[in-house]
Amino acid sequence: MFHKTLALCTIGATFLALSTAYAHDGATGVIKERMDLMKIIGKNTKMIAPMATGGADLDMKAVAAGATAISQAAKQVASKFPEGSLSEESEAKPNIWTDWAKFSGLIESLAADSAVLAMSASKGDESAILPAFGKMTGNCKTCHTEFRQKKK
Ligand code: HEC
Repeated sequence: MFHKTLALCTIGATFLALSTAYAHDGATGVIKERMDLMKIIGKNTKMIAPMATGGADLDMKAVAAGATAISQAAKQVASKFPEGSLSEESEAKPNIWTDWAKFSGLIESLAADSAVLAMSASKGDESAILPAFGKMTGNCKTCHTEFRQKKK
C-alpha cells in the first residue's frame, strides 16, 4: 500500500515536471527573449562558480569571458520586461512594475558587478574574484526572491 502510494506520487511529480517544461518551452516573444538572456546569465554563472569558490582551477580568461557575457546580457534584459508582460509560462511577478525602480536598479547592479568581475579576471587579480562573484550573485538572489515566482 505504502509503496503503491509512493509510486503514484513519483509518477505525479514526473508528470508535473514534464508539463512545466512544456509550458516553459512554449514561451514566445519578449518573454522568451528574456528567458534566453537569463539562461545565458545562468549558464555563465554556473561556469564561473566552481572556479570562484576554489572547487576548480581558476581560468582567468574563462572567468573574464563569462562575466562579460553576463554583463552584456544584463544590459539587454531591462527592455525585455515591458509593463505587464506576464504569461502562463513566465515566472515574473507583477510587482516588477509597481516596484520598477528597485527591479531595474538590481539589473543595473548586475551589469555593473559582472563588469567588475570581468575586469578583475582580465587583470589577473585572484583575490578579487570571490568577493566580486559574491557581489554579483547577490543580485540574482535578491531579485529572484522578490520578483520571480518559480513554477517548478
Ligand atoms: C533584476 C532582477 C533579476 C536579476 C538581477 C537576475 N534575475 Fe534571473 N530572472 C529574473 C526574472 C524576473 C526571471 C523570470 C523571467 C520570466 O520567466 O519571465 C528570471 C529567470 C531566470 C532564469 C530562468 C530562465 C528560464 O529558463 O526561464 C535563470 C536561469 C536565471 N534567472 C538566472 C539568473 C542568474 C544566475 C542571475 C545572477 C547572475 C540572475 N538570474 C539575475 C530576474 C532577475
